[in-house]
Amino acid sequence: MTSPAGPVGLFDSGVGGLTVVRALRREYPSQRILYLADQAHVPYGDRPAEEIRGFALAITQFLISVGSRAVVMACNISSATALETARARHWPTPVIGVIEAAVRAALEATHDGTPRIGVLATRGTVASGAYPRLLHRLCPEAVVTQVPCPDLVPLIESGALNGATIQARCRGYLRPLAEAGCTTIILGCTHYPLLLPVFEEEAHSIFETEPVFVDPAQAMVDELRHMTVLDQSSPTGEMRLLTTGDPEIFERQVRRLLGITDAVVGKAQWEAGKVRAVSPVEAAS
Ligand code: DGL
Repeated sequence: MTSPAGPVGLFDSGVGGLTVVRALRREYPSQRILYLADQAHVPYGDRPAEEIRGFALAITQFLISVGSRAVVMACNISSATALETARARHWPTPVIGVIEAAVRAALEATHDGTPRIGVLATRGTVASGAYPRLLHRLCPEAVVTQVPCPDLVPLIESGALNGATIQARCRGYLRPLAEAGCTTIILGCTHYPLLLPVFEEEAHSIFETEPVFVDPAQAMVDELRHMTVLDQSSPTGEMRLLTTGDPEIFERQVRRLLGITDAVVGKAQWEAGKVRAVSPVEAAS
């Protein structure tokens, strides 16, 4: 049951959604956070849309069942496939997605002339058409170029945030956006902000004018603030991070990739299509 004192629940296939946790934490350090990384199924990007939709709805159900006051789909492909159903199913508990926030932030960042917007995303998000659809609804004259980046999530989950392989992949994925003259580039997978320094460096050598990269995390925090679901009153904001994968590996990833050292890390598991927290669970409810 949703609790007014409950944590904000967030999820992703892996460590990517922690880029949203990081932004939330920066502004609201006392907000309790419950995060689920579905690493048993990472990467989501090449799976069928129906399968991802099932994962996203079951995880949303789990986060609400343990008392989350709001759920953040810190995952583009989940937002593209499951957001509307989750909202309808769990109303009035707020459920927010990443795509609306990213599109708003991209249009705000684009000033002169015809917006030429690039979208870097997983194959599934690109195939869903969610970004061009929403961009064209809000800005019919926008020219949108999408590039699927299937290699990045596995590399990031394996701990690679720099080096020759990552640089070459990022350069290759940016090239079609440079050729299309994009001035704004949406990082349309929550893992990708972890590669922002590499993207910026590679863009420097292949774009005539350096593009603006949009990390939707801040826009999502702004959306939560407008919904007045954030808690600034409690002195300590417990951060509880669960994984359906290996908690020891996850704890190391969290520390190394995001510099998060003050979280309680635990295990969740799938059982007959549902998520169940194995440990630790009590304090999250
Ligand atoms: N970080 C996720 C997203 O924003 C999922 C990436 C994946 O597992 O393919 O789409």
